[in-house]
Amino acid sequence: MERIVINGGRKLGGKIRVSGAKNAALPILFATILAEDVCIIENLPEISDVTDSLEILRAMGASVTMLDLTTAKIDTTHIVCGTAPYELSSAMRGSYYVLGAELSRFGKARSAIPGGCDFGVRPIDQHIKGFTALGADVATDNGYVVCDCHGRPKGAGIYLDMESVGATINIMLAACKAEGQTVIDNAAREPHIVDLANFLNACGADISGAGTSVIKIKGTKRLHGVTYAIIPDMIEAGTYMIAAAATKSHVEITNVIPKHLESVTAKLLEMGVDVVENDESVVVDGDNELTPVRVKTLPYPGFPTDMNPQMCALMCLAQGTSYMNEGVFENRFRYTGELAKMGASIKVDGKMAVIEGLGKLQGACVRAVDLRAGAAMVIAGLAAEGVTYIEDIRHIERGYEDLVGKLANAGADIRRETVPEEAVQKAN
Ligand code: UD1
Repeated sequence: MERIVINGGRKLGGKIRVSGAKNAALPILFATILAEDVCIIENLPEISDVTDSLEILRAMGASVTMLDLTTAKIDTTHIVCGTAPYELSSAMRGSYYVLGAELSRFGKARSAIPGGCDFGVRPIDQHIKGFTALGADVATDNGYVVCDCHGRPKGAGIYLDMESVGATINIMLAACKAEGQTVIDNAAREPHIVDLANFLNACGADISGAGTSVIKIKGTKRLHGVTYAIIPDMIEAGTYMIAAAATKSHVEITNVIPKHLESVTAKLLEMGVDVVENDESVVVDGDNELTPVRVKTLPYPGFPTDMNPQMCALMCLAQGTSYMNEGVFENRFRYTGELAKMGASIKVDGKMAVIEGLGKLQGACVRAVDLRAGAAMVIAGLAAEGVTYIEDIRHIERGYEDLVGKLANAGADIRRETVPEEAVQKAN
């Protein structure tokens, strides 16, 4: 078993380069199924969710070659419908995009009920509502979702009950090759939805309105392959911005789109952190005392739910009471118990966490209970007095490319190590 060890209290400095966006890469990788051709996807993050997605595509019959560490050549001509392997798909949320992509291309689809981070119940009723509106019969069978349009999907008007990222993407995919026009109302507006639309349009699709609440998709019979570069990861960028603020450091975070970071930047400014936006980088200077704040997570352009844990770690380092209101998921506060081991004082009541900031944290042995929770533990460990050990780091590796290497290069005292066998046995 591997763990991360951090000797806290070191300042960061220099530049940290952000990789491609996980939540854009996953839908675009599965969208290559629609091209029935060769696509070259650049700026892929080197993370296990991407490796697993490529493995799923391979198992489905695609030919996948890595041209370099971040560029994949994918030929989806010979994909066979319904062959996404259960083990890999059920462990990853993004694998549900197989459903929308297969429905578009084959008129039917079959993939495992998706897993991913545990934030309480994560229903897919809005995806199913969309598929049904496009003419599919949808059923579950032994852990699989099975859809059948008995022919080509038919364009329809779909109103989403909430701005679901996954449902918006899945319906966009399913509608791409449908007969006629589909309109998604109350669509999510995340930058990765725009990135997916740009990719599909480059392949010959006809999608307008991505990035607004109304997306129109005119069905197209054939798409074709393209070369396409994924946008930078706004959550990875936000995580490093908060790491700089938490360690009172001066860091330039490069390869970013500052517009995507506006809500995070605004909250950091409110906390007294200096943030300067350049064309493709942000410079964070965390020298001032941190002021407590109130944050509510919301769909984009609101403050991202995927920054909730990292922001909470920073709130612990301000003196005074901060509030984190989770506006997207049922239960995203499992990590607060881990922060408590580091001396944090956090009370959770439903979707609200009240953080009594003490201005400091202490090193401890903690777990990454999910992906972004893991990032929060790293931030807390960087700022804490003493040594922090973070276990279950596979969650972190699902979504952060070389987090340890990037932070070590910026001056952190951080490393990965193998936990000695005796320690694992004792813990069990
Ligand atoms: C995606 C991201 C995740 C991010 C989230 C919100 C991926 C692989 N995951 O997750 O990192 O935290 O967007 O930005 O891209 N809901 C329903 N029914 C549905 C669909 C969603 O009730 O059919 C609810 C969810 O339970 C949640 C809210 O809607 O409370 C938003 O979920 P959604 O935007 O769909 O998130 P995911 O696509 O699962």
